[in-house]
Amino acid sequence: MEVIIQSSKQEACALGARWIARLLRQKPRAVLGLATGSTPVLLYKELIRLHREEGLDFSGVTTFNLDEYLGLAPEHPASYHHFMQENLFRHINIAPENTHIPDGQATDVPATCRAYEEKIQAAGGIDLQILGIGGDGHIGFNEPSSSLTSRTRIKSLTQRTRQDNAPFFEKPEDIPQHVITMGVGTIMDAREIVLLAFGQGKAAPISATVEGPITASVPASILQFHSKATLLLDEEAAGDLKRAEYYRWVHDNKPDWQKV
Ligand code: GLP
Repeated sequence: MEVIIQSSKQEACALGARWIARLLRQKPRAVLGLATGSTPVLLYKELIRLHREEGLDFSGVTTFNLDEYLGLAPEHPASYHHFMQENLFRHINIAPENTHIPDGQATDVPATCRAYEEKIQAAGGIDLQILGIGGDGHIGFNEPSSSLTSRTRIKSLTQRTRQDNAPFFEKPEDIPQHVITMGVGTIMDAREIVLLAFGQGKAAPISATVEGPITASVPASILQFHSKATLLLDEEAAGDLKRAEYYRWVHDNKPDWQKV
């Protein structure tokens, strides 16, 4: 697990975007796992800038999003379908048929989840998974107590997560109770994982993820078992890390060939 602390979320997102750009240049038909929430918005803005100004090409790229609310139509302003269109897809040259987000209107949920897993497999698996983190340490919508080997499935949101996501909805009662999310095991199958976290509200879950025990009570802590997981943090999100100085030193003293 590599922890990279940047002075601002702008810098962290610029680094994250360079990371993705490097992959796409090496592998134009890469498969990306994408996240929603406020955290990756700046990352997507930077990818859009790289596309417009430096010709970053998404024409061969396939994407799989982590999750979607059950019961929301794709055009609902709080749906993750809508979020991805507005914040990334409609600004880049990605083929709509290459973008995948769990179907929030699925009627046969288990079959929909199985099919999602099969599509990821058929695409060759996820090369790079982008993650945010919930205030309680969740990844995707895998709430605390989620099986650490879980696959794509229905989950019930905690009250805390529903409250955290309330700003995206008009009325609190509009916030769905259920979601479809990639499982923790699905996420762990990605060849590489980059988790972004910004702001003081993420300091506690980040310290639990990096320096706490591996536990289903903090689903992100399973990333300690991933051989290529990187955390891109701002100073606030890194605020509770005991070994912050060491992580900074490691980053500042990398050999040239390891730098992005
Ligand atoms: C939701 C999403 C997660 C995201 C989390 C944090 O629960 N399903 O993927 O990481 O919110 O959101 P934010 O980035 O807005 O803090």
